Amino acid sequence: MRRPLIAGNWKMNLSRTQCVALARQIASGLSDSPAVDVAVFPPAVYLDAVITANTGLKVGAQNVNENADGAFTGEVSCSMLQDLHASAVILGHSERRNLMGETSEQVNRKILAALKAGLTPIVCVGELLEQRQAGQTDQVVLEQCRISLAGLSAEQMQQTVIAYEPVWAIGTGQVATPAQAEEVHASIRQWLAKSFSPTTAAQVRILYGGSVKADNAGELLSQENIDGALVGGASLKAESFLGIIHATKAEKVA
Ligand code: PGA
Repeated sequence: MRRPLIAGNWKMNLSRTQCVALARQIASGLSDSPAVDVAVFPPAVYLDAVITANTGLKVGAQNVNENADGAFTGEVSCSMLQDLHASAVILGHSERRNLMGETSEQVNRKILAALKAGLTPIVCVGELLEQRQAGQTDQVVLEQCRISLAGLSAEQMQQTVIAYEPVWAIGTGQVATPAQAEEVHASIRQWLAKSFSPTTAAQVRILYGGSVKADNAGELLSQENIDGALVGGASLKAESFLGIIHATKAEKVA
């Protein structure tokens, strides 16, 4: 059984004090042995503060540079994240792809570097509204998977998490219907079975992201191929993030 993962992407929000307080509030709202993995992704400069607060949550970065070290002004390496005891990294988020021009080839290099450093990559894929309207959703998403996940061994693939995030649903309040999301998740899983193996496909967690809230999480997460959520806006308040976590437990781990 795939253990659900609820991940909070805090993006470029909150202060140091607010990050630590939010992590503490989330942790204190969880039961002693939660049946769901919970991870938070603060801004890079606050990773150390959130990790040393020792809340028991998994803590990861929102991006990493694929190079080991050197003249890359403003960038952060995998070994720096390792040094802080970060456990995961979000890669290829649509904001990085669309605002910073990140390509699937670059995302691929970052995934391989992250895996080598023992970090769990959460790899984002998703179509633009015009691509969905043109009937190109599967084609776009599977092409992003094909390039971003090239060269991974089956074992590395099993350590990697995929997040399907339709770009038109991110931060818009316009959530994909459970059926729309499930259809793409099922395509991704079929692609994994073909490209790696059915065993690998059965183990990889595929998260949904895009306007997930406590009141729509239950239905989304009850879909067969939806194994968790990557949450932006609703992860910035403990109450709404915990609402999503609790909806997951009810639907997935009954
Ligand atoms: P949202 O963001 O939940 O605010 O739509 C999701 C994301 O960007 O991962």
